[in-house]
Amino acid sequence: MAEVKRIGVVGLGAMGAGIAQLAIEGGFECVGRELDAARGDAARDRIGHFLTRKVEKGQLEQGARDDAMSRLSTTTELSDLAGCDLVVEAAFEDLAVKQELFRELERAVRDDAIVATNTSALSVTQIASVLDKPERAVGMHFFNPAPLMPLVEIVRAERTSDDAFETAFAVGKQMGKTPIRCSDTPGFVVNRVLIPLLNDCVRVLDEAGVTPEDLDAGMKHGAGWPMGPCALLDLVGLDVHVHASEALYEKLREPRMAPPPRMVRMLQAGKLGRKSGEGFYRY
Ligand code: 3HC
Repeated sequence: MAEVKRIGVVGLGAMGAGIAQLAIEGGFECVGRELDAARGDAARDRIGHFLTRKVEKGQLEQGARDDAMSRLSTTTELSDLAGCDLVVEAAFEDLAVKQELFRELERAVRDDAIVATNTSALSVTQIASVLDKPERAVGMHFFNPAPLMPLVEIVRAERTSDDAFETAFAVGKQMGKTPIRCSDTPGFVVNRVLIPLLNDCVRVLDEAGVTPEDLDAGMKHGAGWPMGPCALLDLVGLDVHVHASEALYEKLREPRMAPPPRMVRMLQAGKLGRKSGEGFYRY
């Protein structure tokens, strides 16, 4: 297995910043890349804020927080990832965007570096198909919010080497996660189940004439969910969910995979959830 000391994260949005936080908390050096310095600074502030909250709540020593922050650097240049042993891309969920990024990454990193994608519904095999060395590619699918959700799915694409697969698994573990191994099938494990389930929940809103508040209370108190489906969709983002839903529907052709019309209307109206200030709820 390859030894990993330095991790690159491409894209420091909510997921990427969460992954970078996990990397530095896990003792790795981390280089985060964003398109402009302002976004890099915002991600750094976000990570600093969450680590400070941990100190305030007695979950982390101040010294450990400062050490972790000192292991984080941000850049706008992919060439600054040259020294990384493993890079996780958490860029926009679009096949062409991720393929172009993989092409550029392969030129930037060492010959033996591993490249991972945090894609939630695209094919890792297809993203990796543009690489000269597709055996170095693997899926590392984190869940939102990444620092809090224990799972990471380690996805074996068609050409993934055993070395890349097991190294990604070990890195997930060192980040404090519970990794599981899976194949590159549509939605992997959790989204294959969760996406149609969330779609069903939204269909029930109209079928049963129930309010988002009552549906959420139903699933929390009747099914033991940590948060209700409407609150969860607002957290994940309606745009992210609809996109993943459509990608799975395209591949599996199961009617339950298709986003319900209510959700599509919300998306068209810009009601994306927390990120836009309104989804099922107002923020
Ligand atoms: N990043 C880092 N730290 C965060 C954070 C974030 N985004 N959000 C919160 N925190 C920190 C905060 O410091 C917070 O403490 P504070 O409020 O005192 O500052 C601390 O974590 C605890 O936060 P909460 O009190 O909100 O934690 P809860 O105990 O209420 O749990 C939860 C929150 C873990 C989100 C829980 O409600 C849960 O498990 N919800 C379900 C989430 C889920 O199902 N996610 C999967 C979505 S599907 C997906 O991601 C797949 C993808 O492909 C679309």
